[in-house]
Amino acid sequence: MTGKIITIVNRKGGVGKTTLTIGLADALLDDVNMRDAANATLIVAVDLDPQASLTRALLHEPGNVDDGGRLGSVLKAKHTLAAALDEILKDKTAQVDAHVTHRVGRIGFPFALLANDAGGWDIERHCLRKAGGEKKLKSALKSLLLQLKKTYAYVLIDCPPGQTVIAEAALEASDLILCPIAPDYLSFWGLESFDAYLRELFADAGDDRPSARYVFTKWRAKPPAYDPQNKIADEVAHFAPPQQYVTLLHEVGGRPNVPPRAINMPFDPKLVTRLEGAPRPGRIWPFSKTFTSQTQIALKNLAVAVKQELQRG
Ligand SMILES: Nc1ncnc2c1ncn2[C@@H]1O[C@H](COP(=O)(O)OP(=O)(O)O)[C@@H](O)[C@H]1O
Ligand SMILES: [Mg+2]
Repeated sequence: MTGKIITIVNRKGGVGKTTLTIGLADALLDDVNMRDAANATLIVAVDLDPQASLTRALLHEPGNVDDGGRLGSVLKAKHTLAAALDEILKDKTAQVDAHVTHRVGRIGFPFALLANDAGGWDIERHCLRKAGGEKKLKSALKSLLLQLKKTYAYVLIDCPPGQTVIAEAALEASDLILCPIAPDYLSFWGLESFDAYLRELFADAGDDRPSARYVFTKWRAKPPAYDPQNKIADEVAHFAPPQQYVTLLHEVGGRPNVPPRAINMPFDPKLVTRLEGAPRPGRIWPFSKTFTSQTQIALKNLAVAVKQELQRG
């Protein structure tokens, strides 16, 4: 297997990176080809954020606040990114799969997770203190991702906000970079410097640089009159090379004579419950009950557009 690495990144917090990671995993799994007879997991989500929202969203069981439940046992067993990186730093052949948690997610089709916890802060801090630490840390993360690529068809990486060495290594290893953005000016104003950062990062990569795309989240079908959403969307829609590297994600080459469609994730109040606790603890919900119909459509379009981007790359 040579899987594809998709990194979900934005320096800004709260724009929907973690939500989009889960939604994309679910949407890819809603495609029957992604489920095999043995129900093996073909997707792994990697929580790169030591704040561990992805880990908590996928493993926390409401009612189990003291974490005697699944979250607690995964963290206690050190099935975490920090533990896997620590082992790879000591021995390049150490196996990351020993740290992967299988069968997570709340729709009927599970995926795998490389969890994170506060230990993720320490590994970066400790590594960077040592001479040559940055290079070693980046190369350890890349070996880890390479191993996952051999096992899984899709490796979805949920980045922390800000800019970390570990996240930079993930970007460099990516086949596709997805950048969720909220349609407000505080999100918009950061895009120029983010684009410049990526251009610098891939300055020597030539044609090998991964495609990088914006996806609007929290998109309102009818924004209030004073809302800047549509103005911002219009500006972002005009982003194009060579001035800009990151451009808006579109579904392309669909039906003939149909212009490419931008993929916007609707503002969906259900997603909050989805992230912060299952509607009913322990109960599996199908894709169609987990998301509103607008979100289902957007997620399916997202999965199609992502596959198109990967094929073009
Ligand atoms: N499309 C959406 N519609 C409504 N709320 C959303 C949407 N995407 C994310 N949210 C909410 O916004 C908050 C931040 O989302 P999150 O995915 O944690 O962002 P990030 O990972 O970028 O910090 C959460 O409360 C989440 O439920
Ligand atoms: Mg997050």
